Amino acid sequence: MANIGVVGIQWGDEGKGKIIDFLSAYADVIVRFQGGANAGHTIVIGDKKTILHLIPSGILHEGKYCVIGNGVVLDPEVLEKEITELKKLGYMKDDKKFLISGLAHLIMPYHKKLDQLKESRVTKKIGTTGRGIGPAYEDRTSRAGIRVVDLLNKKVFREKVRENLEVKNFLIRRYYKDEGFKLMDILKKYDGYRKLLKKYSMDVVSFLETCMAKKKAILFEGAQGTFLDVDHGTYPYVTSSNTMAGNIFAGSGVPPTCVDYILGICKAYTTRVGEGPFPTELSGPEGDLMRKIGDEYGSTTGRPRRCGWFDAVLAKRSVYLNGIKGLSIMKLDVLDGFEKIKLCTSYKIGKKYYTEPPMDVTGYYKCEPQYEEMDGWKTSLRDIKTYEDLPLNTKKYLKRIEELLNVKVDIISTGPDRNSTIILHNPFR
Ligand code: IMP
Repeated sequence: MANIGVVGIQWGDEGKGKIIDFLSAYADVIVRFQGGANAGHTIVIGDKKTILHLIPSGILHEGKYCVIGNGVVLDPEVLEKEITELKKLGYMKDDKKFLISGLAHLIMPYHKKLDQLKESRVTKKIGTTGRGIGPAYEDRTSRAGIRVVDLLNKKVFREKVRENLEVKNFLIRRYYKDEGFKLMDILKKYDGYRKLLKKYSMDVVSFLETCMAKKKAILFEGAQGTFLDVDHGTYPYVTSSNTMAGNIFAGSGVPPTCVDYILGICKAYTTRVGEGPFPTELSGPEGDLMRKIGDEYGSTTGRPRRCGWFDAVLAKRSVYLNGIKGLSIMKLDVLDGFEKIKLCTSYKIGKKYYTEPPMDVTGYYKCEPQYEEMDGWKTSLRDIKTYEDLPLNTKKYLKRIEELLNVKVDIISTGPDRNSTIILHNPFR
């Protein structure tokens, strides 16, 4: 059986939730390997819409193992809420199959507060989700982080929180002039989470090793997108983890040889939420139309997403960085009404043309996207189920994306529902 990774190749919100939900039917195990509750994976089944921030989207399939890997920063408050909501909806009946790595770092109340305070005070905002992601990864790197295993040991946990509060309260009270945290309040709150996490936490490395020995099919579920990657994204306007496929291995504790196929998810156009450069952004009526038709509002924060044309310069870099073997093109139907559709094939900076993205964020702001213009299809794609039934101009658009990125399109999504999907190649088959 193959092991497959799914990653976003733009700035997140590409529609990974829908495809992970589809592929989960063929997988035995679904693993999240980075990010935290900043993600928002939307899955529509019939008239029911479910948004998951932390728990892998595969949880909606009965009988699958769903795993939170060590690379995730875990907010127990969100976890508890999601478990309660999922159970209310009739999911997670067999919760012995939901597993959390003991090595995952915890989001603490001071992480969320510091994230929000920093964003509210700086002039150059990142536009974070305010979920404490950056401060939690900062602590992990500086070795001040508190992990799930630490919470399970009452004494260790108490000492780590106490040490952290000395520094965090100093920063919050003295620098930000805000209200700090009391040790006892945090200990009391996290006492409840200890019980919850004890139930689900385990040695995920050895669990996945056993799964591989038994030739189980594993699906690695990425969050955010490649251009939010802390190294390869539009730094500093990025998230604080490596979002690219390379982090599957460190973030779940599996060897780099174990993944057979990476599926890259992208929209038929581009969106971005939060601050930062966006060369193909449309700030006029065309962008507004995309936002309206595509219902482009953040599933975590509700913020309107910025919209623009498909950027083949960025997508091509993503295909290389992630080792993408096939693409899933999402929300193709959003372009139904457009007379002309544009594809950015290079950037012009000064007098020079570039087909690779700049290294520096100021380069992005200087670049003028160079477009190829194609005729739109001006007809509804909603719910078309076969490639043959797609209009000729739609096929031409898809072919051009394949040519520009030098990778084939495997999946096409023509509507939010599970069934509005054209599968040209199922990577698990
Ligand atoms: P953070 O991850 O909350 O620190 O936010 C850093 C940047 O990443 C901000 O621009 C966010 O809007 C963006 N971001 C974080 N998670 C997501 C996501 O799941 N989808 C899209 N953008 C995201």
